[in-house]
Amino acid sequence: VAVSREDIRRASDRIAPHIRRTPLLNLPGHAFGLPGSVSLKLEYLQVSGSFKARGAFNNMVAQGVPANGVTAASGGNHGAAVAFAAAQLGFKAHIFVPEIASPAKIAKIRKLGAEITIRGAHYADALALCAAYARQTGALNVHAYDTAMTIAGQGTVALEWEQQLPDDAFLDAVLVAVGGGGLIAGMARWFDSRTRIIGVEPAGSRALDAALASGHPVEVTVNSIAADSLGAKIVGDLVFKIARNRVDSVVLVDDSAIRDAQNRLWSEFRIAVEPGGAAALAAITSGAFRPPNSIRTGVLLCGANVDLRSFSDGANDDAPI
Ligand SMILES: Cc1ncc(COP(=O)(O)O)c(C=O)c1O
Repeated sequence: VAVSREDIRRASDRIAPHIRRTPLLNLPGHAFGLPGSVSLKLEYLQVSGSFKARGAFNNMVAQGVPANGVTAASGGNHGAAVAFAAAQLGFKAHIFVPEIASPAKIAKIRKLGAEITIRGAHYADALALCAAYARQTGALNVHAYDTAMTIAGQGTVALEWEQQLPDDAFLDAVLVAVGGGGLIAGMARWFDSRTRIIGVEPAGSRALDAALASGHPVEVTVNSIAADSLGAKIVGDLVFKIARNRVDSVVLVDDSAIRDAQNRLWSEFRIAVEPGGAAALAAITSGAFRPPNSIRTGVLLCGANVDLRSFSDGANDDAPI
């Protein structure tokens, strides 16, 4: 197995000085109309604004960083996380982003002091430019999802969640948003078979769903409001090997369901997350995921990097009751 639970445990120790233990909001039965309870993990409070900081720190602390620093290709959150980790650890960072990246994320990467190259229509274009840069300069290339270091780093969010649940409690099911799949692969490697791992993808960006249906990673076309975080056209090979064995199912949600979940989090809890950060909850609020009985369902709120004006139109602006 390319990523073991021990790898995740080691990653967790390694990154502990640099990241936040993000809190849980445990809601009793009937939250969001479900018979059972819901455990929200507020990972959007993570440094850099998403779980991506976990993988970024794990890569840099474990591998060491050459004189020319680090580089990454990213639609946004991974780039912000690599820029953040590099700044904290005192390394140079050069981030390659495709033109679809959101202005909020580009501004954040710049503010973190990284050099940034915005070029190419798709993530794949940024990835090719980044790989060429790493070859020329010797910079450490931190992959957004498909390496053991990145997957083990992302898996630490599952280890932490398990530690934070009340005594002897466990999650019967966990809903996780999927882009290239590093996050769900890491979490799936941590949780044991008691926890059903359910991937959530936008209907317009279903790379994991398509891969599981085809028996191998395949390219999909991408068109979703969550494309700047969940918009990978294809899942990684290593991700696929793990997901094939450990992911129970994939649920698809459309853009209006994602928007609705984002608005509900704001209206009911004053939680502001980006579309990719609301996708997992959208599986519940849209009815796409219906647990059979009163089980405990975990929902990872994984990213905060949103411009408030971009989603407040449909949100109820009354204060929560
Ligand atoms: C907020 C957010 N959620 C989920 C994901 C998906 O992560 P992965 O590419 O590891 O599947 C991303 C990826 O950028 C993200 O930024």
